[in-house]
Amino acid sequence: MKNKTYLLFLILAISALFLGILFGLLASLQYIFPEFIKSIIPFNEMRPFHVTTVISWIILSSTGSIYFYITHEEKLPLFSRILPKIHFSIFLATGIAIYFSFLTGKTEGREYLSYSPILTIPILLGWILFGINYFKTILKNVKNWPVYYWMWGTGIVFMIYHLCEAHFWMIPSFRAHFIKDITVQWKSYGSFVGSWNMLVYGISIYIMCKIKGDEKFARGKKVFFFYFLGLTNLMFGWAHHTYIIPMQPWIRYVAYGISMTEWILLIHIIYGWKKSLTQQKKEEFSIAYKFLMIADFWVFLNLVLALLFSIPVINFFTHGTHITVAHSMGTTIGINTSILLASLFFIASRLKLKKAFPIKILLKNIKLYNISLLLFWIILLIAGTKRSHWMYFTKSIQFSEMQDSLYYIYIAFFCFGLLLVTSIVRIVLPLFISFIKKVKIN
Ligand code: HEM
Repeated sequence: MKNKTYLLFLILAISALFLGILFGLLASLQYIFPEFIKSIIPFNEMRPFHVTTVISWIILSSTGSIYFYITHEEKLPLFSRILPKIHFSIFLATGIAIYFSFLTGKTEGREYLSYSPILTIPILLGWILFGINYFKTILKNVKNWPVYYWMWGTGIVFMIYHLCEAHFWMIPSFRAHFIKDITVQWKSYGSFVGSWNMLVYGISIYIMCKIKGDEKFARGKKVFFFYFLGLTNLMFGWAHHTYIIPMQPWIRYVAYGISMTEWILLIHIIYGWKKSLTQQKKEEFSIAYKFLMIADFWVFLNLVLALLFSIPVINFFTHGTHITVAHSMGTTIGINTSILLASLFFIASRLKLKKAFPIKILLKNIKLYNISLLLFWIILLIAGTKRSHWMYFTKSIQFSEMQDSLYYIYIAFFCFGLLLVTSIVRIVLPLFISFIKKVKIN
C-alpha cells in the first residue's frame, strides 16, 4: 500500500483525539459553570460530541495501525489497494455527517450511538470493506495464524454484528418488549467495547512480539488462552451493564469471572514480556515500551476498581455515579489510548521518524500524562463517592446543594483534565506533524 492510506487513518485519528479532548475539557467546564456556552452546545450535547469523537480516535488509530502492520511490517500484498481508500473516504464523510447530525439536533440514536441511526449504514459498509480486504489478504498469504490475526479478524466480524445489534431497537416488535429491548441494547454496547478491545489488545501483542523479535510469543498457549477468554468476554461480559434488569444471577457471575481473568492474564503477559526483554530492546523502542508499561499499570488499577464495584452490594451504590465514568475513562485512556500511543510510536520508529521527537521532553510529558491521569481518575472516584453518599445516605439535601458541595472537586477535575490534555498534545503533536510531512513527501 504505497499510497499510505494508513497514514491518513492515523492523521484523522489524531485529529479526533485532539478534538475529543477539547470537547471533554469544555464539558468539564460545564460542570463548574453550568451556563457556559449552554446556548451553543449544552452539556447533554457536549457529552456525545466528546464520547463519539474519542471512540473514533480508538477505532481510527486501530484501523490505521492494522493497515500499516499488514502492508508495511508484514509486507503482505493487499487483496485490493483501492478498498482502503474507499474505507477512509466513507469514515471521513460519515464523521462529518455525525457532527452535522449532532449540530442539527438529529440525535434519534441511543446512548453511545446517539447520532441519526441512518449513519450506521455507511459505518457498517466501511467495516465490511475492511473485513473483505482483511480476510482475503490474510487467508491467501498466511498459514497457521499468530494470535493477533485471530484477534483483529474477530474484532472486525463482531464489530459488524454488534453495530447491527445495537440497532435492533428500531424493529417495532423488539421495542415493544421493554426488558428484551434494554438487555440487548446494553449487551451490544458491552460487546461493541469487547470488539474494539480485540483490535487494541491484538495490537499490543503484535508490538510486544515485534519488539521482542520473537514470533513464537504470538503462537504460545498463553496468548491463545487470552484470546479465547477475550472472545468469551466479548460475548458474555456485558452482564455488568444490565445490573438493574432481572436475569439469572449465574450469568453475571460467569461474566465477572471471565472479565477479571482476562485482565489478570493481560497483566501477566505484559509482565512476562517485560522480564524477557533485553536492555537494548527496551532502549531501541523506549517510547512504545513506556506506553505498554503504563497500560499494564492501568490494567491493574482498573482490575482493582472493577473487582470492587462488581460486588453486587457495592455496585448498587456506584451505579450511575462518576465511579462508572472513572471506570470507562480509566480503561479507554489508561489502557486503550496508552496501547494505541505505543502503536503510533512503534510505527514512527519503523518509518524512521524518531529524530522528530526530543526524547527527554517526551519522557517528561509521558510522566505528566500518567500522573495527571491518575489524579483525574482519583477525583472522579471522589466525586462518585460523594454523589452516592448523597443519593443513598442523605434525605434532606437538595440536588443543587449537593452539586454546590462538589464545586471544588469539579475545579480539580478540570485542572487535572487540563494537565492531561497538555501532556497528550505535547506527546502527540510531533507525531501528528511528522505523519503529515510523510504523507506530503510522496
Ligand atoms: C483520550 C482521552 C479521553 C477518552 C478516551 C475519554 C473517554 C470518555 C468516555 C468513554 C466517556 C463516557 C463515560 C461513561 O459513559 O461512563 C467520557 C465521558 C466524559 N469525559 Fe472523557 N475521555 C477522554 C478525555 C477527557 C478529558 C481530557 C476530559 C476533561 C478534561 C474529559 C471529560 C469527560 C466528561 C466531563 C465526561 C462526561 C461524564 C458524565 O457523563 O458526567 N474526558 N470520556
